[in-house]
Amino acid sequence: MTSSYRAEPIALYGPGFADNPHAVYARLRQYGPVAPVEIAPGVAAWLVTDYHVALELLRDTVTWSKDPRAWQQTVPPDSPVLPMLQYRPNVLFNDDELHRRYRRVVSDSFSMIEPHLLRAEVARLADTLIQQFGRTGSVDLVTQYARPLPLMLFNTLFGMPDSYGPRLVAALAGMLEANGPEEATAAGAAFESYVTELIGMKAERRGADLTSWYLDHPENLSVEEVLHQVVLTLGAGNEPTTNLISNALSRMLCDERYYSSLSSGALTARDAIDEVLRTEPPMANYSAHYPRNDVTFHGAYIRAHQLVMVSYAAANTAPDGLGDGPRSDGGAHLAWAAGPHACPAKQPALLIATTAIERLTSYLGDLELAVPREQLPWRPGPFHRALHSLPARFTPLSPDPTGASPWSRSPSTTSTPSAPTSTARRRAFAR
Ligand code: HEM
Repeated sequence: MTSSYRAEPIALYGPGFADNPHAVYARLRQYGPVAPVEIAPGVAAWLVTDYHVALELLRDTVTWSKDPRAWQQTVPPDSPVLPMLQYRPNVLFNDDELHRRYRRVVSDSFSMIEPHLLRAEVARLADTLIQQFGRTGSVDLVTQYARPLPLMLFNTLFGMPDSYGPRLVAALAGMLEANGPEEATAAGAAFESYVTELIGMKAERRGADLTSWYLDHPENLSVEEVLHQVVLTLGAGNEPTTNLISNALSRMLCDERYYSSLSSGALTARDAIDEVLRTEPPMANYSAHYPRNDVTFHGAYIRAHQLVMVSYAAANTAPDGLGDGPRSDGGAHLAWAAGPHACPAKQPALLIATTAIERLTSYLGDLELAVPREQLPWRPGPFHRALHSLPARFTPLSPDPTGASPWSRSPSTTSTPSAPTSTARRRAFAR
């Protein structure tokens, strides 16, 4: 049966969706694999909820385009979804040869980052953050850890000194949590000035960093093109990595199978990350595509340039009758999307999230949630599965009395720390 574009769209915004997205996905599946939704008041879209149909769409570049320019003419200019969807001259919103050109620059540059150096850098920045709250015994793991950590890391990867990290963190926090348009404009201006300064510095003097590699790549991007790829890399990398870390931590800290692993080892940080990628992916619904011509797609009649998105969260969790337990496909999921626009930074992102979680839990062995998981506040919005906050508590750490370093020994780099109990670990810090 063919559905019409306006057939009772289901809202993907507001607290109703954020509180229980899987209930909404179950309703959407009743429409078939492609369902009508509203992603903001008055902004209609189609959402693909079936794994195989999603793969078909993501791989078919003849039928589908990533260019939103015709669609965005139909959307109110102040719509809250435009920042995630409107055209920019970067890898995400272009097709064919231009996409391949930008993509080569981003992928080649990320492949030049040595994994062991990346791990060491994440650990160093994680320690800096843990030192800031380690003595207090309580922490909001979103605002004090999972959010600033990827930003501080990108600041380094793009080749800026640590002193610029707080500027980037403050600008992005301001853009996310602005109270009113004035604060939002000020935060946007702070972000712009950070990026302009970054490009200016690197255009003058190269280093062993992503910005310099983007500038020097044989694809010969202009300085303006580099600027757009830098902004996209920050935008695409930061928020989902924050959500991957915090969503995984929220599971680990309330589930005995993980909790016990902090001291005696059952399931690891990587297990929590894999569970999140399948059941609660950091990008829940995205992969915006637009048919180049009118098309009938698995029962939905879709006009040229209408917005179609993929629900990775729904596609990953569709009931398949296989039940729990080991499966021959290893629990395949679409958290990184698929096809030509699939995430090019999957390996570094996994390394960052795993290291961040292992570093934290190896220092704070008795970390626990300060509120039940059911009461955690989720941010409304159609795209991300994101916690507002993740309040936790732990036995405060004692600083190193010699003052040489707040940490008198390195923590374990695995999620199964060597110290048998958290008390023993705490003593080690005071030694
Ligand atoms: C180091 C951190 C990360 C960086 C630098 C990064 C970078 C990027 C870039 C540049 C793209 C656009 C690729 C293209 O259009 O060809 C992309 C796409 C994507 N990334 Fe990542 N990413 C990071 C982490 C993550 C994480 C943690 C997730 C979630 C698990 C994720 C999920 C995705 C998805 C679903 C897409 C496809 C988006 C779409 O087509 O609309 N990424 N990423």
